[in-house]
Amino acid sequence: MDVRAAKKEEIDQLARIWYDAWRDAHAQIVPAGLTRARTYESFKKRLEALVSDIRVVGSPGAPVGFSIVKGDELYQLFVSAQSRGSGVAAALIADAESQLARSGVQTAWLACAIGNERAARFYEKCGWRRIGTMVSELGTEEGRFSLEVWRYEKRMTFEVK
Ligand SMILES: CC(C)(COP(=O)(O)OP(=O)(O)OC[C@H]1O[C@@H](n2cnc3c(N)ncnc32)[C@H](O)[C@@H]1OP(=O)(O)O)[C@@H](O)C(=O)NCCC(=O)NCCS
Repeated sequence: MDVRAAKKEEIDQLARIWYDAWRDAHAQIVPAGLTRARTYESFKKRLEALVSDIRVVGSPGAPVGFSIVKGDELYQLFVSAQSRGSGVAAALIADAESQLARSGVQTAWLACAIGNERAARFYEKCGWRRIGTMVSELGTEEGRFSLEVWRYEKRMTFEVK
């Protein structure tokens, strides 16, 4: 499955994927104020700022999922409902992990909302380990939210050439 860089013209579709998938996974398990703050427009703005770091699966103009790496963090991973269980997420995480390893990260981390059981199962089957909880400080246009989350880590391997 091909993983490629996102195109600027795909921001609307990516914002739709992020908005819908975020709600599927989080609306029932995070504070209602945070759900209200996570509008389609807020996701779109964040994607516009991050466009050069977005990796996607899907034909041009029709992405079905995306990932974003930030420093040593797997920062975002979202797949459309229709493409879950299809290997899209596995392709995106493998691509993100090779990016992390190539940039010299030894131990990568990610935050997962407590109770997001599908994502947790997915990360664990990809070799990530839940090492405890941490508090994520989430900035939104409606103010800051402090959210306790599961922290996952995975040691990145290096290819010696
Ligand atoms: C998280 C995500 C990227 C994973 O991709 P995916 O295609 O769904 O992953 P997979 O189907 O390969 O793996 C999910 C696993 O969870 C299992 N699962 C499904 N629903 C579950 C539930 N409610 N509780 C526990 N496990 C569940 C699946 O059976 C599968 O495990 P299996 O392969 O052993 O059968 C995708 O589900 C997604 O985008 N979710 C919404 C957004 C999200 O949560 N993003 C992550 C934010 S941290």
